[in-house]
Amino acid sequence: MNSDDLNSLKTWFSEYCDSFSTNLDEDRRNYAVKRKHTDNVCSNMLLLAEDLELDDERTLLAEAVALFHDVGRFPQYQQYKTFQDSISVNHAALGAKVLIENSALRNLPNKEQDLIVRAVTLHNVLTIPEGLDPNLLELVKMVRDADKLDIWRVFLEYYAQPKSDQATAVGLGLPDIPEFAPEILTRLHQRKLVLLSSLKTLTDFKLLQLAWIFDLNFTASFRIVAQRSYIDRFALALPKTNDIADAVDAVREYLNEKLKNG
Ligand SMILES: [Fe+2]
Repeated sequence: MNSDDLNSLKTWFSEYCDSFSTNLDEDRRNYAVKRKHTDNVCSNMLLLAEDLELDDERTLLAEAVALFHDVGRFPQYQQYKTFQDSISVNHAALGAKVLIENSALRNLPNKEQDLIVRAVTLHNVLTIPEGLDPNLLELVKMVRDADKLDIWRVFLEYYAQPKSDQATAVGLGLPDIPEFAPEILTRLHQRKLVLLSSLKTLTDFKLLQLAWIFDLNFTASFRIVAQRSYIDRFALALPKTNDIADAVDAVREYLNEKLKNG
């Protein structure tokens, strides 16, 4: 792939997004969230590629994966009016289907088409399967980090907004109350991810998002978490209890270790 190929893919993506245009404010806001998210994931991907000193061809491929990682969000929202996979459809698998059915990658060599489609499919799995081809594994790890590094922004902005301005499909419809499940804090101390099935309140969800830090793969990603003060900003969005403060400290300690050892 060369930079002209990537530009054609960007044009295709932009036209595809435009095909979902609507007069409904609420729907526009929800699509706009995903377009901006895609732009930012592309920028994050370039930061990672630079830090990993990838060559130009690998960098272009990585950016194409970022560009298409959430392409499935558009038809998902159009059909189901939600971004919640559990009550609609797996948006990553849908994204892969969109790329294939529209022959969006037809001008690329087969090997690159295959890497992009497979990386898009794997960007949201709970655990990355064993035994992936090293080229694919690197792209999958990169897009998962680049994605989380922007999702934190999306949610921090969402939590700070008045309800009337919020993009409705971003939240999970969980009650915005300070109660949380104590076992989620235990998971944070154990440096483990939190399962979506354990969520009952928005506080649970914020804690789950904080635990995503344990799934980051690259030193550059930890540096970006620190630069953007994501942990402190989540702490501000969480109820002020000693138990939560201790769990947030445990997450901070993890970040500091990663920064020191990276
Ligand atoms: Fe996604």
